[in-house]
Amino acid sequence: MSVTILSVETSCDETAAAVVVDGTTVKSNIISSQVDVHRKFGGVVPEVASRKHLELVNHVIREALDEANLDFSSLDAVAVTYGPGLVGALLVGVSAAKAIAFALDKPLIGINHLEGHVSANFLSEPELALPVICLVVSGGHTDLVLITSIGQYKLLGATRDDAAGEAFDKVARVLGLGYPGGPLIDALAASGDDTAIHLPRAYLAEGSLDFSFSGLKTAVINYLHRAEQKGLPVNKADVAASFRRAAVDVLVDKTLLAARKHQISTIMLAGGVAANRLLRQEITYHAAREGKRVIYPPPVLCTDNAAMIACAAYHKYRRGDFAPLTLNAVPSLPLGQDRY
Ligand code: KG4
Ligand code: ZN
Repeated sequence: MSVTILSVETSCDETAAAVVVDGTTVKSNIISSQVDVHRKFGGVVPEVASRKHLELVNHVIREALDEANLDFSSLDAVAVTYGPGLVGALLVGVSAAKAIAFALDKPLIGINHLEGHVSANFLSEPELALPVICLVVSGGHTDLVLITSIGQYKLLGATRDDAAGEAFDKVARVLGLGYPGGPLIDALAASGDDTAIHLPRAYLAEGSLDFSFSGLKTAVINYLHRAEQKGLPVNKADVAASFRRAAVDVLVDKTLLAARKHQISTIMLAGGVAANRLLRQEITYHAAREGKRVIYPPPVLCTDNAAMIACAAYHKYRRGDFAPLTLNAVPSLPLGQDRY
């Protein structure tokens, strides 16, 4: 018997709902982005995000069902992201999912947003053999994770300050590119010289699998200040390319180091920054030289979406791992540690 799951994702600034069958067949994947609303503030305003989710969530769920050509009665379970994320934003999705699960008398499945990002890889490759090393790179996280089986995560390293996506967004902001900055830097960097500006790469202690991006971000800000003070012209494409190269170098080197240390031959990318073209290209190239394989989701499944939440939920459904209707939002939920 097939399992049809409706999933809801409202952890940040995308209001998303999806219908996925058996964790692999995406019947619909609706994403309503609030980017236009937050752009004028240069970043996500939590209170505004919550209000927008409230306006949009029912429409997005309706659209997900309509596009899947299904109604509520065809669902086997309702899944929702309950952390990590903005508490007010998470609460909207959690409340909507709880109400639907209660009304239908169907299981409620609580999903960690990061587990969702990881699971985006299983949507296209359900038979993927584990263990893998996964680099989770988003706006809020930069984690190296050893995945031994579905649902078993060992954190090997994490950022000590800014997340990689946060650094992309901040650098884009000081360059006056707009928001969200990651895709804009990625596009502009294509026409720049990545050796034009010397920028630091934080490797931290020998063999460390932790990251630090605040020094790199500050180096870009200092470079721009000095140029302004001296009245020198700034080639934004060169800055974007040099920054992207410095960030990607560290991400690639540390991910390969983790794979080597743990003798793992498959590497997975997850999260919004996994859409970065240079990261995808460089890690694939360097991993191949060591006989390792790299997989990553298509760009639309790297950034926030609900299909990835339904995929993660399918595996919990199979294990009978359901959340109580008292499920609450947990804004700083660690990967692999459910709190319900
Ligand atoms: O996973 P995601 O959609 O949301 C979070 O969970 O944070 O990731 C969003 C982050 C943003 O910082 C955005 O700038 C970054 O992913 N991002 C990129 C690219 N596309 C999105 N960063 C670098 N290159 C990209 N192509
Ligand atoms: Zn995300």
